[in-house]
Amino acid sequence: MTVYDLILKRRSIRKFTSTPVPEALLDKLLDAGRLAPVAANFQPLEFLAVNDPELCAQVFPHTRWAGYLEDGAPHPGEEPTAYVLILVNDHVKSPVPDQDVGFAAESILLTALDEGVAGCAIGSLDRKPLFDLLGIPNHYSISLALARGYPAEIAVAEEMQGEDVKYWRDEQGVHHVPKRPRAKVTHWNKFRQPE
Ligand SMILES: Cc1cc2nc3c(=O)[nH]c(=O)nc-3n(C[C@H](O)[C@H](O)[C@H](O)COP(=O)(O)O)c2cc1C
Repeated sequence: MTVYDLILKRRSIRKFTSTPVPEALLDKLLDAGRLAPVAANFQPLEFLAVNDPELCAQVFPHTRWAGYLEDGAPHPGEEPTAYVLILVNDHVKSPVPDQDVGFAAESILLTALDEGVAGCAIGSLDRKPLFDLLGIPNHYSISLALARGYPAEIAVAEEMQGEDVKYWRDEQGVHHVPKRPRAKVTHWNKFRQPE
């Protein structure tokens, strides 16, 4: 599969099988984050893999899922089997750490998907309890948690109708993600004003 194929295929997945993510792959994900582009090469980011089943079970209640859906969180038995947390070391002065996080996150997501492991970026987190639980020093901030696991749902992108950005699930449980039409958000040479 090409990188573009993976980009087309990647959707946020919020239901997982119980098969653990291989440790060698998690190690690869940490490395993919480490090697991502970084503004001015300051490298303020660190990456924490969580795969201990008991710790994963303790992380899960601090994550928030699919705010547009009434019942969007993984049900018991569908929880992620691993997480990669992206941490920002506040002692390393970076002009744009959030942009660094974005680059690292996508590198990690695509590396995982290349080996069949999917998941969801979770920005909506109870951060405070995670510091104690995972022993993270106070001069770090937790930017994102990347929940990982083998997918147990189907999610598809579709062309957005109007301005409704809300993803939805159909009766078969397929998760639909509206994306703005290509012609509306891409431009060539000169910015094309909307008609
Ligand atoms: C920075 C960021 C934070 C996100 N936080 C959450 C979150 O807390 N919970 C969740 O269920 N999804 C979260 N998502 C996933 C988005 O809802 C998802 O990317 C969006 O609906 C588009 O779907 P797609 O990833 O399948 O293209 C987050 C995504 C990003 C990029």
